[in-house]
Amino acid sequence: MIRLAKLDDVPAMAALMREAWQTAYDGLIDPAYPPTIRAEKYIEEFTKNISEKRERMTVYEKDGKIAGLCGGRLRPGDEFDCEIHCLYVYPVYQGQGIGSALFAEMKEFFIAERCAWMIVFTFYGAKNNNFYTKMGGDIERYEDGEAGGKKYPGAAFTWQLEKFDD
Ligand SMILES: CC(C)(COP(=O)(O)OP(=O)(O)OC[C@H]1O[C@@H](n2cnc3c(N)ncnc32)[C@H](O)[C@@H]1OP(=O)(O)O)[C@@H](O)C(=O)NCCC(=O)NCCS
Repeated sequence: MIRLAKLDDVPAMAALMREAWQTAYDGLIDPAYPPTIRAEKYIEEFTKNISEKRERMTVYEKDGKIAGLCGGRLRPGDEFDCEIHCLYVYPVYQGQGIGSALFAEMKEFFIAERCAWMIVFTFYGAKNNNFYTKMGGDIERYEDGEAGGKKYPGAAFTWQLEKFDD
């Protein structure tokens, strides 16, 4: 059900992002922003991520549709040497274990890459903060997040990955 994203998937992935943003940050960000989000923004970003291997992008397929997506990247030389950069599930498919499955798969990939610390940046107080706490993350530090050209309080969740014996 989880597989690497292909270029053919990009339009469906962009549509998912637009849809998820309509409700993801309710009460936190300017409500005027989500309706202005254009799919092209994500089509460009995901096309580059996949074709230039800037990020490892995965999708969760359910009933032949892309129900969730995840993007992760390595941060060589940084204290937090890997990052889940985006993790989004279609609102209609949320609460069914898809987000945690995508999260766990990416984390396993980073462990196999022998990363030490994983980080996720999001908005402080977003509904997803409870999800990341459930996934065992600690809020490590706060940084401003940006949406539609405006800044909002940010949160960075971190995970120490497995220790290696050899
Ligand atoms: C955050 C998100 C990825 C979680 O994916 P999901 O498929 O809905 O989550 P799951 O069904 O795998 O839930 C895993 C656990 O987290 C909990 N959880 C998920 N969302 C939660 C929420 N908003 N509040 C409280 N707990 C939540 C679930 O109850 C579940 O716990 P359980 O196993 O004890 O039942 C998804 O809701 C989403 O796309 N949200 C909008 C976009 C977003 O904020 N993405 C993160 C950007 S950094």
